[in-house]
Order: sequence, then C-alpha cells, then structure tokens
Amino acid sequence: MTATRKLAVVTGGASGIGRATVERLAADGFALAVLDLDGDEAVRAAKAAGDDGLGLAADVSDEGSVERAFARILAELGPVDVLVNNAGITGGPAATTCHETPVEAWDQVFGVNVRGPFLCTRAVLPVMLERRSGHVITVASAAGMIAFPGRCAYTASKGAAVMFTKSLAVDYAASGIRANAVCPGMAETPMTSWRLDVPELRARVQAGIPMGRVAQPEEIADAIALLASDHLAYMTGHALVLDGGWTAL
Ligand SMILES: NC(=O)c1ccc[n+]([C@@H]2O[C@H](COP(=O)([O-])OP(=O)(O)OC[C@H]3O[C@@H](n4cnc5c(N)ncnc54)[C@H](O)[C@@H]3O)[C@@H](O)[C@H]2O)c1
Repeated sequence: MTATRKLAVVTGGASGIGRATVERLAADGFALAVLDLDGDEAVRAAKAAGDDGLGLAADVSDEGSVERAFARILAELGPVDVLVNNAGITGGPAATTCHETPVEAWDQVFGVNVRGPFLCTRAVLPVMLERRSGHVITVASAAGMIAFPGRCAYTASKGAAVMFTKSLAVDYAASGIRANAVCPGMAETPMTSWRLDVPELRARVQAGIPMGRVAQPEEIADAIALLASDHLAYMTGHALVLDGGWTAL
C-alpha cells in the first residue's frame, strides 16, 4: 500500500497527453495507476512511472471494466487522491456534421468522452467522500468552449465534459472534493497526427492560432500537474484553457 505518496489515476495514460501526464505526475512524486484500452502500453507507462506503478487494460465506457479496474487500484495502491479523466476520442471520419453522423459514432464518442468520466468519477467518489478529500481533473477541449467545424459529437461531448466538471464542483465542494477541467487547443499527439503530419494541413491549423504553433503534450501535462498539486486549492469548477490564444480570437 502507498502510505506517503499521493495516488493519481490517469485514464488514456498510454499515449499523448495522458502519457505526458503520467510522466509529469510521477516526477512530482505521485504514485500512478494508468488505465487504457491498450493494456500493454498502460503497463509500460505505469512501470516507467515507478516500480509500484499499476497499468491496467480498461475501457472507460464499460461499467464492469471500470469497476474492476478501480477495485484493483484500491486493493493494490489504496485510495485515489487525483483522478485524471483523460481518455478521449474524436470519433473518426464518420463523426462529422450532425446529419451525417451515424448514431453508433455519436454513441461511441459520448461513451468514451462523457460516460467514461462519469463512470470513473463514480468509482472514486465513495472513498473520496469518506476521506473528505480528492480532486477530479477532466481533460475536455477548446471544443468545449467553441464548436469545431464538422465535429458535432466531439464538440457536444467536450461541452458536456466541462459541465460535468461544474456539476461535480457544485455537488461536492462542501465534502472537500474539487473538480476542474483542462481545455487544450490543438496538441501534437497520435490523435492529431493525421492532420499535423501533413504540412499543408498543419500550416492551416497553425495559421488560426495566435501563437502560431500547436501545443506539445507536456505543456498540457504541466497544467494538469499544477491542478493536481497543492497549489490553486481554492479553484474548483474551472475550465482552464491552453490553446495559444485560439479561443480568444
Ligand atoms: N490532441 C489534441 O489536440 C487534443 C485537444 C483537445 C483535447 N484533447 C483531449 O485530450 C485527451 C487525450 O487526447 P490525446 O490527444 O492524448 O489522444 P491519444 O489518442 O494520443 O490518446 C488517447 C488515449 O486514450 C485511450 N483510449 C481511447 N478510448 C479509450 C477507452 N474507451 N478506454 C480507455 N482508454 C481509451 C487510447 O488508447 C489512447 O491511449 C482526450 O480526451 C482528447 O479529447 C486532445
């Protein structure tokens, strides 16, 4: 059991922003559990974070999978101090404008991006309530603030992730539990490589960002680590935007 170090769980921690967050929180002294659809990479990420790092294959949209994963985390590492709801998907080429989006694609996006944070948060809240302490950090998106053209399900799901965060903040503030969101603009990860690896598409993206560049995943992990630290203790229900000025336009 982890007696002294705080425990953080990062969903979708095998890749991109989640992976950078795992590395950063480990460097900041957290014990880590990593959940991901890709169990092998989750184990690798967790072990790189520390000998006691626990990597588990889990589907955040599946109730049984989430319950099994969090039961193991509690049994093997103890109570969760910080949950980072990071796992997310855009829905692929089918999930575009409203009338063109297949119902299955909509449900899949909401399954991972909205049901996922709900199920994972629901799994940690009972012990957080007992301990009167805990922080739920959800990775939403700039798409939770402004609509991404041709990305109806993703935009709606990230708006829901922001409001889910506010709902948690209001309902649990008196119980010592905080909830905040981070809203990245465009970050360089496997999720965005189809676009950013094509020079013309990358140039178009960068032209729309006042800073003229996309974020590195470590820059988003910095914000998550700041929220997870003991600083900013009066902040709850906030959506922290990191987008190079994109949504300020
Ligand atoms: N990259 C960006 O530009 C960007 C911008 C704004 C928000 N975000 C958000 O940041 C988060 C991380 O995105 P990323 O860019 O690092 O993506 P990524 O594709 O690199 O990583 C996502 C990880 O989530 C995992 N995952 C997907 N579905 C899952 C499920 N059902 N259960 C468990 N794990 C699952 C994947 O296996 C993968 O390891 C997402 O919520 C995404 O919406 C990303």
